Amino acid sequence: MLAHLDSTETLKEDILSEEPPEVDLVSEISGTRGLDEYAGDIDQDNRIYQGDNLDVMNYLITEEDMAGEVTLCYIDPPYAADHAFESRGGGRNDPTYKDSFEDAEYLEYLRERLVLIHELLSEDGSIYVHIGEEMMAHVKILLDDVFGRENYENTISRKKCHSKNSTKKRYGNVQDFIFFYAKNSDKKTWERPARPPNKEEKERAMKEYRYEEEETGRKYMKVPIHAPGERDGETGEPWRGMEPPEGKHWTYPPEKLEEMAEEDLIVFSGNGNPRKKVYYDQRDGVPVTDMWLDKRDYYNQQQAITGYPTEKNVELLERIVEASSNEGDLVFDAFMGSGTTLAAADTLNRNWIGIDKGDEAFEIVQERMQEGSGHSPFKMYKTR
Ligand SMILES: C[S@@+](CC[C@H](N)C(=O)[O-])C[C@H]1O[C@@H](n2cnc3c(N)ncnc32)[C@H](O)[C@@H]1O
Repeated sequence: MLAHLDSTETLKEDILSEEPPEVDLVSEISGTRGLDEYAGDIDQDNRIYQGDNLDVMNYLITEEDMAGEVTLCYIDPPYAADHAFESRGGGRNDPTYKDSFEDAEYLEYLRERLVLIHELLSEDGSIYVHIGEEMMAHVKILLDDVFGRENYENTISRKKCHSKNSTKKRYGNVQDFIFFYAKNSDKKTWERPARPPNKEEKERAMKEYRYEEEETGRKYMKVPIHAPGERDGETGEPWRGMEPPEGKHWTYPPEKLEEMAEEDLIVFSGNGNPRKKVYYDQRDGVPVTDMWLDKRDYYNQQQAITGYPTEKNVELLERIVEASSNEGDLVFDAFMGSGTTLAAADTLNRNWIGIDKGDEAFEIVQERMQEGSGHSPFKMYKTR
């Protein structure tokens, strides 16, 4: 499909050979918490830019030397959905922004931007691309081309809203998608997120954790302390005169087993078979999979923070920021809209840069990043 296109390297060189725009500092905002309370990197300014993101990324790479500086990029670009979006309560501009492209034009527009994002990402960096059903298949192929199929991680299916009474002669659409790619899959920053269990999962867990400690009331289950395979080392040695069962070894060395027994973490069955206590309250939650049913958008729940028409759920962004970056890392959103990514990054002590071409987005983000607690200083720029 992409055989007719220039290689990503050629495309990148072509874009970066264009003169970058002039950029003016229009405001310096002090933030509600001082830099001394901020765990991010204070040598790295938090910034928002108003301008076309292709121009601004060209500027960041060629004038600010920022290639390889971004750990996490999240983008929620137009979906080529042929919509004109308006803010709730009436936009300051009419419409707030337009999302209408021909397919080929859309793909080239997005590809150019992905090539520059790839350049901005660090070796341990990653990108999340949020996309609707309209162009998701096409965008996956673009991402394979720019980032390499070997760096594809997941397609997250996200439930974006409850089902509505659709009059269309097709199934109602309640999901959108988030593609997750690494710059280099083996080196990526990532920590598995967990979530609280739902009612059904809790009920199932209560059946598994069916024992209760008399003194504390803590629920626990008993798990074997041996695993398949014989071992010559410490875990193959007897403990309290007991050999590991035939064809197995202890999961811990005898010294550790003794420690656990002294801490009352091992229980013995009637015939003396030892098992480890695993407590319900020590679980970190349920590991998050690629199906996200718990992060619907506020817009659909009438709880929006800014009222920007495509504002995403900030908890969705917090999950992504926590999973794919560490404190002090740089988080980037080239289609920032109402600044949800930046707000999540700021709360979680990451540095951030956002770009949007719209006047309304620029104003909303300025307000949003000054309000509430935990907001850090930032600079605002416009391209000429
Ligand atoms: C779907 S919205 C992003 C919403 C955002 N995730 C949020 O939570 O509010 C897409 C945004 O991209 C901006 N945009 C589209 N094309 C752009 C371009 N070439 N350069 C900069 N911004 C652009 C639009 O103005 C719009 O605000």
